Amino acid sequence: MPKARTCVFISGRGSNLNSLLQAQQDSQCAYEIVLVISNNAEAAGLQIAQNYGIQSAIFPNSWYKGNKQSQEKAMHLLLSEMNIELIALAGYMRILTPWFVDQWENRILNIHPSLLPLYPGLNTHKRALEAGDSKHGCTVHYVTSELDAGTILLQAKVSIYSDDTPDKLADRVLMEEHKLYPQALNLVALEWKART
Ligand code: GRF
Repeated sequence: MPKARTCVFISGRGSNLNSLLQAQQDSQCAYEIVLVISNNAEAAGLQIAQNYGIQSAIFPNSWYKGNKQSQEKAMHLLLSEMNIELIALAGYMRILTPWFVDQWENRILNIHPSLLPLYPGLNTHKRALEAGDSKHGCTVHYVTSELDAGTILLQAKVSIYSDDTPDKLADRVLMEEHKLYPQALNLVALEWKART
């Protein structure tokens, strides 16, 4: 069966991009990352894409100051030209406009470092610790125009320990992210391919 042509959006480190790329080495994997888009020319994840021989494109925020829609239109054009079917946001630090989300309805996933609906937005690990939670984790969800609020696909939990710091907790959650995202993207790719 042909694989779902996927683009990963990044802004930084790219460790989730790396885990998605590692997982696609399995011949059974239903997605194939063929493009990486970054809105930050300095993103370390661009080197990861290069190491895997994956095409990347940079649409720096600085080129599109105050005009997010023209940035997204340029990205949309490239995605369409490359016959991209699914988009996986992996640490993409710019909120997409409703216009873009509409173009790609039910075809954009995101990974978020909390057990949504708890802690949408930033500083999730610190907020979970401050709230005295005993569990924390990560969520893969569909992207809608409301921040971190789309339908949840999969979640993974970790325990919070009394000596945790935001950094320690972030490291444990990240290990779960690296397992969860490939699973979730694979499920969506399988479903997408069954429909198309
Ligand atoms: C991850 O914690 C992810 O959940 C969040 O941004 C971070 C990206 O990390 N959305 P990386 O760039 O994949 O290493």
